[in-house]
Amino acid sequence: MTDLIPNQRHLFDIPAEVAYLNCATMGPMPIAALEAGRAGLARKAQPWGITSDDFFKDTASLRPKLAQLINARGEQIAFVPSASYALATAAQNITLKAGQDILIMADQFPSNVYVWRDLAARTGAKLQTVAAPDGKMSLSDAMLEAIGPQTGLVACAQVRWTDGTRLDLEAISDKCRSVGAALVLDLTQSCGAMAFDATRIQPDFMVAAGYKWMLGPYSAGFMYVGEQHLGGQPLEHNWITRAGSTDFTQLINYTDELGAGAERFDMGERSNFALLPALEAAVDLLLDWTVERVEQTLGAHNRQLAARLAEIGMPCPDNADRGPHYLGASLPASAPADLTERLKADNIHVSRRGNTLRITPHLYNTTDDTARLIEALKRLI
Ligand SMILES: Cc1ncc(COP(=O)(O)O)c(C=O)c1O
Repeated sequence: MTDLIPNQRHLFDIPAEVAYLNCATMGPMPIAALEAGRAGLARKAQPWGITSDDFFKDTASLRPKLAQLINARGEQIAFVPSASYALATAAQNITLKAGQDILIMADQFPSNVYVWRDLAARTGAKLQTVAAPDGKMSLSDAMLEAIGPQTGLVACAQVRWTDGTRLDLEAISDKCRSVGAALVLDLTQSCGAMAFDATRIQPDFMVAAGYKWMLGPYSAGFMYVGEQHLGGQPLEHNWITRAGSTDFTQLINYTDELGAGAERFDMGERSNFALLPALEAAVDLLLDWTVERVEQTLGAHNRQLAARLAEIGMPCPDNADRGPHYLGASLPASAPADLTERLKADNIHVSRRGNTLRITPHLYNTTDDTARLIEALKRLI
């Protein structure tokens, strides 16, 4: 057990009266990230100060840091604006045969569903949704059981976005490999808050939008690309990912040669002078804390909160079956339809997905925040 991280609210711009328990919807950017983003944005007001080197500096320093978050190599990281962009790239590079299965989890996030519906329609593959049979088996075991010789692709997450149910990605990736199925992962709801070892899991592609648990800005995420796909087809054909693009005088000497590694998959205008410095400042903080310690600290606090929620009739999935950073509490029938709006009126911010109240604190939350949540829930449900 490593040392738990002390409260970090001083690094965020969150007033004392705000109980923000909604990182799964949108992580607040740390003040350092905000300042880095502001400085980057200001450069665009005086563009004569922007040099050709500046188009390459931020991506060069950020790529290995993103790789470090997931134990990968910098050459395996591409810059993407969204999970859906990266998943479209993955779909473009996965070969499926008619009749093969694409397996997804029940209630998966839509950006990780529509893309596979489309791929199934184009290839004749069959999209199969795997649910946990009520109380009989975990979602993870149901997924493992569903993977077989007919499986061409498994597309899932580390935790389910609605309720935090966790998947055993080591077992799932082993099973995929044993049957020759591809594995595509959306880690938007866990990257930065839950350890993930890309070298161990070896997915074909993995994506994380950066604006939740990575505490970065909106529209700046990253994609990990498995070694076997590093020569794959990008979605776009932009100038900067081509060999020799550092020499702006030679750009019309068109070339089919792409840059090294996953850089070929970088989105157009990847050199965002405002978003990348902001994301880098947030990632610096995560690396400083370490993802393992974030996971352990949030896990310890959430176990206490889960026990208090159970006492007031709002149980969460068992600690072993959920991401440590993520609480999905079942709502009783007495819960009003406008529960989250009423909580918001008290400056308590959580989200509701179906009959689950999603409570996702981070290192900036205090015991006062969670005490206020419990008191308000007692009153409102
Ligand atoms: C699991 C998951 N993936 C992805 C996203 C965001 O998708 P996109 O980047 O395509 O908007 C969310 C947002 O809530 C999410 O919960």
